[in-house]
Amino acid sequence: MTPTLAEKIAGAPKAELHIHIEGSLEPEVIFALAKRNGVKLSYESIEALKRAYAFTDLQSFLDIYYAGASVLLTEEDFYTMTAAYVERALADNVAHAEIFFDPQTHTERGVAISTAVAGIERALAEGEQRGLTSKLILCFLRHLSEADALATYEAALPLFDTYAHRLIGVGLDSSERGHPPSKFERVFAKARARGLKLVAHAGEEGPPAYIHEALDLLKVDRVDHGVRSIEDPALVARLADSRVALTVCPLSNIKLRVFDDMKQHTLKQLLAQGVAVTVNSDDPAYFGGYVNANYFATAEALELSEQEIYTILRNGFEASFVSPAERQSLIDKLDAYWGQSNPPPH
Ligand code: ADE
Ligand code: ZN
Repeated sequence: MTPTLAEKIAGAPKAELHIHIEGSLEPEVIFALAKRNGVKLSYESIEALKRAYAFTDLQSFLDIYYAGASVLLTEEDFYTMTAAYVERALADNVAHAEIFFDPQTHTERGVAISTAVAGIERALAEGEQRGLTSKLILCFLRHLSEADALATYEAALPLFDTYAHRLIGVGLDSSERGHPPSKFERVFAKARARGLKLVAHAGEEGPPAYIHEALDLLKVDRVDHGVRSIEDPALVARLADSRVALTVCPLSNIKLRVFDDMKQHTLKQLLAQGVAVTVNSDDPAYFGGYVNANYFATAEALELSEQEIYTILRNGFEASFVSPAERQSLIDKLDAYWGQSNPPPH
């Protein structure tokens, strides 16, 4: 990739639609919050923690990710974490972010959902003042029971009113294998009846059948990851026809060994087949980079053209949960930038 194309990508206004806010906790922040709260970590230093970031699959990552999140206790902690993400997002020219959080990770440690949301909201409201619009999506942990998800949903109900401008949907994450979307059909039906937006991780490590279930049973508006759809041509055609977007996270897929290396990533093939692919960071503090780094690594390894990159950037805005007027304004910004910002001739 020419430096000028990297510069053009870096400067482009973009959406980020798949970021777990707990996955933005940098090792330094984990240690600072552990100290602030007197939480004992099982890693003796920042370096020891970083050395543990050698993942073999999704579960090996999740074990460390939940240990990292254990330092979050107060509203101020959630604010600190989210404010740091806002800085990174603004530095990458993210204009709109849709952010996941995992309430069950916190409620099981006695931290109320309202504490988490209040701290996250304070930082996101500040981000809005600085040009980053955002939404928040509450994710259920799929390794826990359906009953636990239902109880979490009920406990969060007042927050969907208080924070209606921000908290607009529910999602499904954590250990995929053995926990199909069908396990959560009833809680998603309740969220759908309430008019909430619906997303689910599917086809990251799990089979294409889980993507079918997410579409047919949960009736999701977007699929998170979804990269294993490539194994099922009829599913790829279905995704392309319906324009249900995939929130792809390339660096995550390499770190968690979904693909051996970036050159094997199927994002370009999915794009060529008309799937609404977007690029996102997933858990940037753990996977080696924020959203721009994901664009750079993908563009370089897959030799993406300017047109392909534009399409991915645009897909991000097309797939975001904003009003039609906001969407048009974001796309207008992208078009103005992309048209004017051609790499200089050599
Ligand atoms: N939670 C945080 N990151 C995740 C991922 N990539 N897959 C499933 N659950 C997650
Ligand atoms: Zn994810």
